[in-house]
Amino acid sequence: MPTETVYGLAADAANARAVAAVYEAKGRPSFNPLIAHVTDVAMARRIARFDARAEALAARFWPGPLTLVLPVLDPEAVCDLARAGLDTVAIRAPGHPLPHALIQALGRPIVAPSANRSGRPSPTTFADAVEETGKAAAAALDGGPCAIGLESTVVALLDQPRLLRPGAVTRAEIEAVIGPLSEAEADAKRSPGRLARHYAPNAPVRLDVETPRPGEAWLSFGPAGQGPWNLSPSGDLHEAATNLFAYLRAADRSQPTAIAVAPIPHGGLGEAINDRLRRAAGFVG
Ligand code: TXA
Ligand code: MG
Repeated sequence: MPTETVYGLAADAANARAVAAVYEAKGRPSFNPLIAHVTDVAMARRIARFDARAEALAARFWPGPLTLVLPVLDPEAVCDLARAGLDTVAIRAPGHPLPHALIQALGRPIVAPSANRSGRPSPTTFADAVEETGKAAAAALDGGPCAIGLESTVVALLDQPRLLRPGAVTRAEIEAVIGPLSEAEADAKRSPGRLARHYAPNAPVRLDVETPRPGEAWLSFGPAGQGPWNLSPSGDLHEAATNLFAYLRAADRSQPTAIAVAPIPHGGLGEAINDRLRRAAGFVG
C-alpha cells in the first residue's frame, strides 16, 4: 500500500500468519518490530497507552509522517510477532487516503514495514514497490509516487522522549511541542531497527562529493549540480527527500563504479536525508 512517506508491505496486525509472511517476504529479522498503522488517535488509544506527550504530538502531527513508540495496551491487536515480543508498540496514522480507507475497511490496525527487501532502499513508487516485494502480496494498491519519499520520524515516549529515526517531521518541530529530545539509546532492544548498512543500493556510496570520478553516478544538489540525478536544482530539501530513494535506485541501475553524492545541508529535513545517506554508505551501525 502507498503512504505519504514510502510504500509499505501491509498485513492485518492481529494475524500472526500474515505478519510472518511479511517478515518472510522482506527477509527481515524477527527481532525488528513493525509499525502499526491506524486511522486516527481513537484507534491508537485502544492499542497503546497515551500520555500527555503522546496526545500532544498526535494532535499536532497526525495524520502524518510521525511514529510514536508507546507502552502496549492491547497485545492481541498488534500481535507478538509484529512487536518482536516487546511490551511497546510503534504506531502512526498515515496521511494518505488509500491506507486510511484500507484500515477503516478492516476496522483494526494494519502493520506495514517499508516494502523493500531488508537492507535495501525503501520504494517510493508503485513500480519499485512491486519490484521489491510484489510477488508476496495478494493485492497491490497504486497511489502514485510518494509525496515525502522518506520513512516517518520515529519517537519513543517510554522514559525521556527519544528520537529513534529522523524523518519529515523534524527534531525542531517535535521539540517545539514536547521539549528536548534525547538521542536513541545504544541499547539494541530499544531501537532494534538501527541495523548497519540499511537503505543500501548495490553500488558503493560516497558522500560529500563535489566532483565525481569517471564511471561514478552523481547525485548532485543545487544550481551547480549536473547530470540526470540532481536531487533538487533549486536546493530545496523537500524536493531532495522526494527524489532521494528513486534516484539512488535509478543511479544504481546504471551499474556505476560508485554512487557519489553531493553535500546536503544538515538542518531541518537535512538531518533525515543525511541519516539515510550515511546508512546507504555504511557509516552507521
Ligand atoms: O514511513 C514509515 O514509517 C513506513 C511506512 C510504510 O509507514 N514504514 C516503515 O516501517 O518505515 P519500517 O518497518 O521500515 O521501519 C519501522 C522502524 C524500524 O526502525 C523499527 O525498528 C522501528 O520502527 N520500531 C518499530 N517498533 C518499534 C518498537 N516497539 N520500539 C522501537 N522501535 C520500533
Ligand atoms: Mg524500512
